[in-house]
Amino acid sequence: MLTIDVLTLFPELISTPLSQSIMGRAADKGIIDVRAHQLRDWAHDKHHRTDDYLCGGGQGMLMKCEPIFEAIEELRRENTKVILMTPQGRVFSQPVAEELAAPCVDGGDAHYIFLCGHYEGVDQRVIDTLVDMELSIGDYILTNGAIAAVVVIDAIARLLPGALGDARSSEEESFANGLLEAPAYTKPNVFRGMAVPEVFLSGNHKAMAEWKLEHSLERTKTNRPDLYAAWAAAHPEYFSPKKKKKRTPLTHYKPRPDKMETEHKE
Ligand SMILES: C[S@@+](CC[C@H](N)C(=O)[O-])C[C@H]1O[C@@H](n2cnc3c(N)ncnc32)[C@H](O)[C@@H]1O
Repeated sequence: MLTIDVLTLFPELISTPLSQSIMGRAADKGIIDVRAHQLRDWAHDKHHRTDDYLCGGGQGMLMKCEPIFEAIEELRRENTKVILMTPQGRVFSQPVAEELAAPCVDGGDAHYIFLCGHYEGVDQRVIDTLVDMELSIGDYILTNGAIAAVVVIDAIARLLPGALGDARSSEEESFANGLLEAPAYTKPNVFRGMAVPEVFLSGNHKAMAEWKLEHSLERTKTNRPDLYAAWAAAHPEYFSPKKKKKRTPLTHYKPRPDKMETEHKE
């Protein structure tokens, strides 16, 4: 079971999104237990202050040591990892989500405390003394860490056995094999003159798998050349002349048909 304690000034920003849909069901099934705590509960002054002015002057306020130390010391267990949400941290990605989910994938337990910053962030002594991992969700600045923590918790939780209806859903998704997922279609087979690729109606699973890989590669090459280059370097056999000859050439994505022209044509 994965247990996560979240320390934040905005517990509802955690509890509301994580009680919905797949995350809500994962909690009901006992796969994950997320507890959002109000950090002010560990501030003992009259106004429950959690911030103070910057030492040496400067714009803004900083989150104080005292409530954070007290809260973490109370919630921490033997194997707890404390994760600080900060734009200065390691950039979150699918491999990091897998790393954080790993202890629980074979039925084990893990306990994380997510510390969510606000204002100008947290006092450096918190980072130096209590934090095991600093995590960023990307190179931009949010107003507070609870929003980032929801993103990270959601991405970890959906990797836990039983969280998704079908485990293959996460195995076949973008990034799982280093590529973006191939284009996907649902009914009707023809919509406004746009047909589902024939291969999906053929019932030929090998041909469908080949089609998906080729289009996954093409999409990755266009949208994420960095991922494409890494995949190509790791799979030289895919581009061998023998293999290439067997494959049908890739078609490039056509621009979206003009709406006026295609309307009522199905
Ligand atoms: C306004 S930000 C503080 C930014 C800080 N002064 C700096 O320049 O690094 C307030 C809080 O939002 C959270 N935050 C903002 N952007 C984030 C990001 N990209 N990833 C993770 N957390 C972020 C952090 O918890 C941070 O302490």
